[in-house]
Amino acid sequence: TDTTYRQAFRPQYHFSPRANWINDPNGLVYFDGEYHLFYQYNPYGSRWGHMTWGHAISRDLVHWKELPPAIPEEGSTMIFSGSCVVDKNNTSGFGQNGVIPMVAVYTAHQTNRQSQHIAYSLDRGRTWTKYIANPVIDLNKKDFRDPKVFWHEPTQRWVMVVLLPAEKKALFYQSPNLKQWTKSGEFTAADSPATIWECPDLVEVPVDGTLERKWLLMLSMGGGAPAGGSGMQYYLGRFDGKSFVSELKPGDVRYVDWGKDYYAAITFNNLPVRGNRGAISIGWMNNWQYANDLPTAPFRGAMTLPRELRLVKLQNSGTPARYELRQRPIQELKPLLGAPFRWTGTDVAQLNEQLHTAGSSLPTDTYLLTLELEPKQISPGVRVQLRKNSQDETEATAIGYDPVRQQLFLDRSRSGQTGFSKDFPGRFTAPLKPQNGRVTLQVWVDRSSVEIFANDGQVTMTNQIFPGPSATGITFFGDGLRSVIIQPIEGIWR
Ligand code: FRU
Repeated sequence: TDTTYRQAFRPQYHFSPRANWINDPNGLVYFDGEYHLFYQYNPYGSRWGHMTWGHAISRDLVHWKELPPAIPEEGSTMIFSGSCVVDKNNTSGFGQNGVIPMVAVYTAHQTNRQSQHIAYSLDRGRTWTKYIANPVIDLNKKDFRDPKVFWHEPTQRWVMVVLLPAEKKALFYQSPNLKQWTKSGEFTAADSPATIWECPDLVEVPVDGTLERKWLLMLSMGGGAPAGGSGMQYYLGRFDGKSFVSELKPGDVRYVDWGKDYYAAITFNNLPVRGNRGAISIGWMNNWQYANDLPTAPFRGAMTLPRELRLVKLQNSGTPARYELRQRPIQELKPLLGAPFRWTGTDVAQLNEQLHTAGSSLPTDTYLLTLELEPKQISPGVRVQLRKNSQDETEATAIGYDPVRQQLFLDRSRSGQTGFSKDFPGRFTAPLKPQNGRVTLQVWVDRSSVEIFANDGQVTMTNQIFPGPSATGITFFGDGLRSVIIQPIEGIWR
């Protein structure tokens, strides 16, 4: 089997493991020049099972190097999702001879019991020792998982957010040393459309153009997401080190992403301080409805692009300010972008003609497409066929903007291989209004995915696709288009 990165469905600038199954990112943390990406990994096959923390590192969040698995399954105890911290002051006492310990906090999964465990590493995450007095929190429950731990400066305590998934309850704990934990609060939300909650993340994020910061609570929804199956929602509010209080009005449900393939995203701990930079998240680009059936081998599963998370404050006179999440691809991706094809105009026929002329100088399956639209209420809107097959002209992924419904859409019903699950094909939409009469779309195309960032990160839509090898074309339809930039993206695997 081909374990290289040269396959048709192999992501060229997203992380995927050389072989085997992955799901959630775990323990995202920066330490000593390295970004660590741990993840749910099956060392023995390409379906879910034998959960172990896999491991990859990067110096720029873009080029990843896969390392041997970090924390292995032990007997019948699987290592489920969790997080990782850098214990600079050696509060845990795991450090020796002045070496700063990295401490992982994860769910130990047994048939009828989930509890929270810790392990530490004294060699920059390469090898791990499980704490002898595990578990550190055990509520005698079957479902109790996915701890997110971080250092809370104002209270000088470690904080843990962890879930009772079926009750859709987030529990908050505090600890001076990562070993003894005291419960300090709970959060539930009657308005959540989720079936269950998994993989919480709590992080303070800056508000664009102000000195304000607010707390962002992200939750993965096991089901009930807008595109069907699993997805993510968020709340914004206050956190005093003990408990989170949402400031959103009840019923004001916010989704992190509107596509079908955005799950279990969490943010990095211990990021190097750089200006007023926001939090950085990575998600699992998948949906539990069909994750085990994706037509890839010998790997199954990939991560999304890292996103910088910030908030904007929208002020309308007379009404209270509205805060919204903004997600933008991290700046570190810029060096991957090659020389652009540029077009401005109004006539798509003329654009298609120019694309035809540009021919083989255009990128085929890994590129960034930047579109500016000036939608008119009555026009048909703009539709773009990506990854269009030159042999079978009906095979393409359609994206676009519907100005009448004010919706962004992606249609992958005929995007290539779609038959492996009845839940895969479909057309997905997100509400999106023009800003000052314009809609901008940043569309990151890889060999098996399309991530759309609309209106500077106001709306995002992440979807996998599995097009045939001759699906390399691109065609534009409709009206309202004003400018197009196409930049090839250089792969990260050698
Ligand atoms: C989310 C999840 C987590 C769990 C892990 C197990 O995708 O179900 O709740 O910890 O995957 O692999």
